[in-house]
Amino acid sequence: MALILEGKSLALKKEESLKKKLENIKEKISFLIIQIGKDESTEVYVRQKIKKSEKLGFSPIYKNFDENSKEEEIINFIKEEQKKSDIYGVICEQPIPKKYNSLKIIESIDKEKDIDCLTPYNLGRLVWDNPIFYPATPKAVVDLLENYEISTEGKRVLIISRSIIIGKPLLLILLRKNKIGDATVIVAHSKTKELKELTKIADIIVTAVGKPNFLKADMVKEESVIIDCGINVIEKEGKSLIVGDACYEELLNKVKAITPVPGGVGVLTTINLLENLFLSYERKKGV
Ligand SMILES: NC(=O)c1ccc[n+]([C@@H]2O[C@H](COP(=O)([O-])OP(=O)(O)OC[C@H]3O[C@@H](n4cnc5c(N)ncnc54)[C@H](OP(=O)(O)O)[C@@H]3O)[C@@H](O)[C@H]2O)c1
Repeated sequence: MALILEGKSLALKKEESLKKKLENIKEKISFLIIQIGKDESTEVYVRQKIKKSEKLGFSPIYKNFDENSKEEEIINFIKEEQKKSDIYGVICEQPIPKKYNSLKIIESIDKEKDIDCLTPYNLGRLVWDNPIFYPATPKAVVDLLENYEISTEGKRVLIISRSIIIGKPLLLILLRKNKIGDATVIVAHSKTKELKELTKIADIIVTAVGKPNFLKADMVKEESVIIDCGINVIEKEGKSLIVGDACYEELLNKVKAITPVPGGVGVLTTINLLENLFLSYERKKGV
């Protein structure tokens, strides 16, 4: 049976530590969450962020632009709101509807408040292995590997995703010269041919595809480690269930280690984002 790489207790530890730090702060620490258009899973993430941040004492400000909104209106809103002295973070939820120039919108975010690490500046800092903020989900993957002392040094790590929020930044992190780094990274995506040939040779597989039952036991080798970033809602026996990309039950009996969904990468992502928010506050205050 595989080792279960659970993220819950680590997330709780981070939460406790952040709560303690916030107890002594009387100032309001606000941040903007901007959503453009409607998207069911984005709304789930947004609700989680609002709930968790309020519980810890942060003040989230949520703004949902409908798809008729003009790009300039969104950009002006970001530029004006982020000037306010109690705003320490700006999140613009992905995906941004295709009709907009996403890069232009993201570029309007102040790099010092880009707690989601999406601006070209912050992604560029990641290339230099010197980021101001680590992106929350890739950082959650690193946290889990670190916590369970799974080094990636010299290992073949397959990332199944080239998205801007997971695959691309994680590629950069795993290439840095570090114990969680120094990997031989392979990146797969929807145009990759013969994916099974790659999954079979990978020591560690990080999947972030967004398709349930995507990674099956016959695709991987026995000694592999599976990190599942996928969050998918399925209907089973009349109930809504959250599952990852991996066939968890069958992989559990084959691989060396695997993350559960929920309770693996996802629980760490929100708290990592809030850690970035607090870091932004500390920097501004010169702590
Ligand atoms: N755990 C967390 O905290 C967290 C955070 C954010 C997102 N998520 C979840 O992670 C998943 C991905 O989210 P995302 O926003 O990164 O999605 P995304 O932008 O749609 O990226 C999905 C990636 O999977 C690739 N892909 C799709 N079908 C494939 C196939 N058949 N074979 C190989 N690769 C394939 C896509 O390739 P192309 O580039 O070629 O299209 C793309 O690179 C979702 O389930 C989402 O809910 C989890």
